[in-house]
Amino acid sequence: VSAQKLEDGGDEASVRRRFAAAGQDHVGAHLDRLDRPRRAALLAQLATVDLDLLQRLVAEMKRDRPIVGLDIGSAEPPDWLALERVAGSDEERRARRLGEERLAAGKVAALVVAGGQGTRLGFDGPKGCFEVGPLSRRSLFAWHAGKVLAARRRFGARIPFLVLTSQANDEATREFFAAQDHFGLPADDVMIFRQGMLPAVDFEGKLLFEAEDRLALAPDGHGGTLTALAASGTLDALEARGIEDVFYFQVDNPLVKVLDPAFLGHHHERASQVSSKACRKRDAAEKVGVFASSEGRLGIIEYSDLPAEMMNARAADGDLRFRAGNIAIHVFAIDFVRRLTQGGLRLPYHRAIKSVPYVDANFEVVTPSHKNAVKFETFVFDALPLAERTLVLETAREEEFSPIKNREGEDSPATARRDLDAAFRRWLATAAPGAAPEAIEIAPSFAFDVEEFAAKVAGVRDLASRRLLLE
Ligand code: UTP
Repeated sequence: VSAQKLEDGGDEASVRRRFAAAGQDHVGAHLDRLDRPRRAALLAQLATVDLDLLQRLVAEMKRDRPIVGLDIGSAEPPDWLALERVAGSDEERRARRLGEERLAAGKVAALVVAGGQGTRLGFDGPKGCFEVGPLSRRSLFAWHAGKVLAARRRFGARIPFLVLTSQANDEATREFFAAQDHFGLPADDVMIFRQGMLPAVDFEGKLLFEAEDRLALAPDGHGGTLTALAASGTLDALEARGIEDVFYFQVDNPLVKVLDPAFLGHHHERASQVSSKACRKRDAAEKVGVFASSEGRLGIIEYSDLPAEMMNARAADGDLRFRAGNIAIHVFAIDFVRRLTQGGLRLPYHRAIKSVPYVDANFEVVTPSHKNAVKFETFVFDALPLAERTLVLETAREEEFSPIKNREGEDSPATARRDLDAAFRRWLATAAPGAAPEAIEIAPSFAFDVEEFAAKVAGVRDLASRRLLLE
């Protein structure tokens, strides 16, 4: 239905009928109260809503069954490459060499998901623009781009940097990258692509209006990455360049070892379709999903879906039975993403209960102080059970996971800067034992890994300064 036709009023009646039949009869009453231009704007947006999907999601919501990608009843702890097995082993050295070869051969791209709304942090703008560098105030986007730059230099390869955005932050993200000259990356190696949006509904399943002439929409979850890769043509572009694997991570974790060669090597060596990094859970109650396997398939059970007896169960060694926590770092094989998306990927939709501003019957904007709405989201890890070959690799939390979710307290800018500081000091200690600057930052593009760092600073820098910023 084109907007032009709708402006002529031609299809308005059919839109009203379809929404009424789908249990959204308040939409007609809302339209009645709009002037002509606003009505046309809303009608054009309504025409893009997938009503069959919406009806299905609302019906599932009313049945209130948990949405899980894996059968919880038969779930077992999965096999994983535990740190005590791999750290410092020949297996790890071999994997690392293989990963380095893959990077040098230009077979790998980096992908950061940054389409979320970052409501808990409450930062005005895309979360990737949040300044995380303890001394430089470098943004999260600059941080990750700097790591990609370091890898390109180190391996002498063109490594595409993919950035997932959503309608809410796409423009601002593009402007940010352009204004900062893509952080030193060639513009045509930065591929910004957009995920889909879905309407938010109230607890009765009714569509909410964000403004008189606009529905309240939300990004369709990080599972939208896979569909968006295909729909945006990015997957074609990657295949045309001979890219075979994509290193996937989240924008809010500045500690991630972007393009970690050992991880890429383990993945390739096993011809894995999706590989994942995991951290040992801090305690039973930690709010991370856990890896589990069922009927020969790997999956992740969200903490909110994990039954208490499974959450607290202990293994013979006394540690948690389900101990492998998801830190949202994966490698996806491109041919697997192609296969998944070819026939139209259908990941399950989870429900997120959120506070969503809306206009009331008087067209006044209401910002609720409580949770009033449901957003529907797919999760990228629900693709795991669709893979025949997977891998879970344990990693040390302090080296790789410190996400910025909240304004204060746990998982906040303060904890992320604290953990970055500790990581910088570990690197520094290898080159200048005993050096104890008051403040330190090692720019992500300064060195790709600790060996490169040590070689670069050997005998050259004054590592004793009080404020040590290595750019
Ligand atoms: P979170 O689920 O933690 O959400 O996303 P968020 O959007 O950052 O913050 P809240 O929940 O509103 O406070 C984890 C990662 O997945 C991305 C986010 O940008 C973040 O990097 N994400 C999430 C998307 O790219 N799209 C989505 O639809 C949801």
